[in-house]
Amino acid sequence: MELKVALALSCLAVACRRPAPAPAPQPLPRTGGTRQTAALAALGLDARDLPELSAVDARTMKPLMDTFDDSLDACCEDCHVKNDPKAPTDAKRIASEMWRRYSRDLVTIDGAPVYCDSCHEGRLRFLDRSDPKALSQWMLANYVRKLRRKDGSRVECSTCHGRPFEPRILENLWHARKG
Ligand code: HEC
Ligand code: HEC
Ligand code: HEC
Repeated sequence: MELKVALALSCLAVACRRPAPAPAPQPLPRTGGTRQTAALAALGLDARDLPELSAVDARTMKPLMDTFDDSLDACCEDCHVKNDPKAPTDAKRIASEMWRRYSRDLVTIDGAPVYCDSCHEGRLRFLDRSDPKALSQWMLANYVRKLRRKDGSRVECSTCHGRPFEPRILENLWHARKG
């Protein structure tokens, strides 16, 4: 009996984990646009013209979170402290920056809206970092050449990595500063 309870508890504890990423090719930014257009429209949000996250009302926030979960195959606790969605976390900070700098600012080269799924395709982490040269080539082919900014200007490495080039954007620029 005790064993059963312990097993049930440990299953609950791992419910949020996903299998290690399959050694599949990295997802390309979808040129056809985001799969979340309809889900966003149902919330009164236009994928082509997303508001600041801070302007999204509390009632819309919860179902909006489902579009994050779907796009990244993530669950709430990947980004939030359990039962305290207001508490700051690094993942929340990164997600806000991606909303602001990517989903609000970028479109595909053919003008289709870019949302979380456009790059993540159902995986929270998806970059193959084993060969930095190959990854740089991939970034050039996919992010620089297949995306543009909404104002019509080109995407460069510096659009995302800044100048001088900062490879670890997430860790070094976007993580919530402690203290
Ligand atoms: C990919 C990361 C991510 C995932 C996954 C995620 N959230 Fe969020 N959540 C955020 C961000 C970013 C904000 C907005 C933070 C801000 O701008 O203050 C937010 C805000 C919220 C808020 C409003 C809190 C506030 O500050 O008023 C609630 C409630 C919330 N999330 C619940 C959830 C629930 C429930 C789930 C699972 C269904 C979930 N979130 C999944 C990143 C995430
Ligand atoms: C232009 C492409 C692009 C778009 C659009 C995008 N992301 Fe990302 N995101 C990335 C890349 C690249 C990484 C690094 C992935 C890795 O480490 O494998 C990443 C990482 C993350 C991480 C950190 C994962 C971790 O724990 O290491 C979070 C959280 C995240 N993205 C949330 C979002 C959310 C939410 C959206 C939509 C509002 C979004 N992203 C849109 C490219 C994108
Ligand atoms: C649309 C945004 C975007 C553009 C444009 C972009 N990158 Fe990235 N790149 C990312 C994100 C996000 C990560 C994950 C960063 C992290 O983990 O901190 C990343 C990671 C990398 C990494 C791996 C860093 C590491 O230490 O693991 C390399 C190398 C890289 N990019 C090179 C480039 C080069 C070269 C260019 C221009 C040809 C470029 N990137 C353009 C978003 C972009």
